[in-house]
Amino acid sequence: MASSNLDSLGSFAHGLIHSRQHVSPKRLIDPGPSPFQKLEILNAAGAAPDHGKITPWHFYEVSSKSRNLLGDLFADALIARDPGATLTQVDEARQKAFRGPLLLLATVNLNSELDNIPEQEKIISAGCAIQNILLMANALGFGSGLSSGKALYSQKMRELFLLKEKEQPLCFITIGTISTHKPNKDRPDASSYTSIF
Ligand SMILES: Cc1cc2nc3c(=O)[nH]c(=O)nc-3n(C[C@H](O)[C@H](O)[C@H](O)COP(=O)(O)O)c2cc1C
Repeated sequence: MASSNLDSLGSFAHGLIHSRQHVSPKRLIDPGPSPFQKLEILNAAGAAPDHGKITPWHFYEVSSKSRNLLGDLFADALIARDPGATLTQVDEARQKAFRGPLLLLATVNLNSELDNIPEQEKIISAGCAIQNILLMANALGFGSGLSSGKALYSQKMRELFLLKEKEQPLCFITIGTISTHKPNKDRPDASSYTSIF
């Protein structure tokens, strides 16, 4: 449906959803969300579909104090993967922890001892919570980007964030003011991913 045929809420949703784009964390700078805006962004996650009301997702905000620890982890992970990495490459890996004024680690808890909810549903639920965060950040005028990488899935990451046994890291979410950004208009059309059954 063309956005011009939508009512005002539909037009707003169309604009909000289609204007959200991945922005590289390198391009997300201060100012970040105020404490009130941060709460709005985090509360948006709570509106995600959640079968059994189990809140399977969790968001860890990486404080300014903890960024050093995360930076060391990124640097050590690179050295472990590639002992020949140059000092510049190691420093670049470390700097990833310092990008963006708001940095969150998103996780999903797949423990099924207390519920019968399938893992797929928990992961979908967490994905919806992440998207709500991205859309609310967009609505408040901030850019956002998701990042993963090998270090995310490492045992050291689990230890640093004290993840529970069945808690899986999903991605980092960086939120901030967009410095520069090349718009990505390459989005698939519904006809390419739908069919009639
Ligand atoms: C869980 C997850 C992790 C991602 N990690 C990265 C990443 O490490 N680096 C990257 O360039 N894009 C990553 N992406 C992809 C971007 O977030 C983005 O979705 C993609 O570049 C398409 O851009 P768009 O969201 O503007 O359509 C990730 C996406 C997801 C869903």
